Amino acid sequence: MANSIRRYEGRVVTVIGGGSGLGEGFANRFAREGASVAVLDLDATRGNAVAASLSSYGVAAMYSHVDVTDAESVVSGVDAVVERFGKLDVAVNSAGIGGGMHLLTEFPLEAWKQTIMVNLVGMFHCLRAEVPHMEANGGSIINIASMVGAVAHPLTSAYVASKHGVVGLTRSAALKWGHKQIRINAVGPTYVRTPLTVPAIPEEVWPELDAEHALGRCATIDDIAGVVAFLGSDDASIVTGAFYLADAGYTAR
Ligand SMILES: NC(=O)c1ccc[n+]([C@@H]2O[C@H](COP(=O)([O-])OP(=O)(O)OC[C@H]3O[C@@H](n4cnc5c(N)ncnc54)[C@H](O)[C@@H]3O)[C@@H](O)[C@H]2O)c1
Repeated sequence: MANSIRRYEGRVVTVIGGGSGLGEGFANRFAREGASVAVLDLDATRGNAVAASLSSYGVAAMYSHVDVTDAESVVSGVDAVVERFGKLDVAVNSAGIGGGMHLLTEFPLEAWKQTIMVNLVGMFHCLRAEVPHMEANGGSIINIASMVGAVAHPLTSAYVASKHGVVGLTRSAALKWGHKQIRINAVGPTYVRTPLTVPAIPEEVWPELDAEHALGRCATIDDIAGVVAFLGSDDASIVTGAFYLADAGYTAR
């Protein structure tokens, strides 16, 4: 039973983008499994609230501010975690934005660039800040891509390009740091109801989306948290450079 698994006793986990949605779910899952959890996010109000709520699991938690588009801010945020907890075992990179839906030829340039900046360059900044803290003792990094790291959508070219980029970045990093026993994987969720998607996707469209999946439904936050908690744990000790689709069979067609 997932509720009784405690694979993370004595482990330190950061969740960048942990203030909302999937990231909040990951922070809860790791805390439930016994980890000390650091919530890093741009939104201090949400980030602090999530970190405070984790005390209900009887674990240590903290919030640290990061803007993933700013390399120095990510280094300071991750360094603050190591200063407080003494090490970093697992890092989940979940900060991201949708970028809007537009035809390629009509995509506002600034919105396109900002999507790449947050979702892809931001991921690069996260990896650069996290890897140095894992070089001595190894660790596990999980990058949240999307199933559109494998397939595409005609109106979300910036988001699709950023997530394809995350998959390539993950594989490159895994090859480089494997000899230090740092495992680096990407996860590709299908649609999940979060503050990112619920306002953007009208309520009446969700049943149509459900029907497009082999399992007949989109994913829940808990579905994705289970995959992430597996990849971060010793149960996945031989897994690196992988892109785990968590998509209810959407891309199997
Ligand atoms: N919800 C879905 O259907 C879905 C599907 C596939 C992949 N994803 C991916 O999962 C990740 C999380 O998405 P979500 O649905 O939980 O969204 P969300 O909006 O609920 O959470 C995203 C979090 O990222 C933070 N963030 C945004 N920009 C940031 C920045 N510059 N620096 C630091 N933090 C920043 C936000 O403050 C927020 O807390 C994203 O990378 C998203 O692309 C989501």
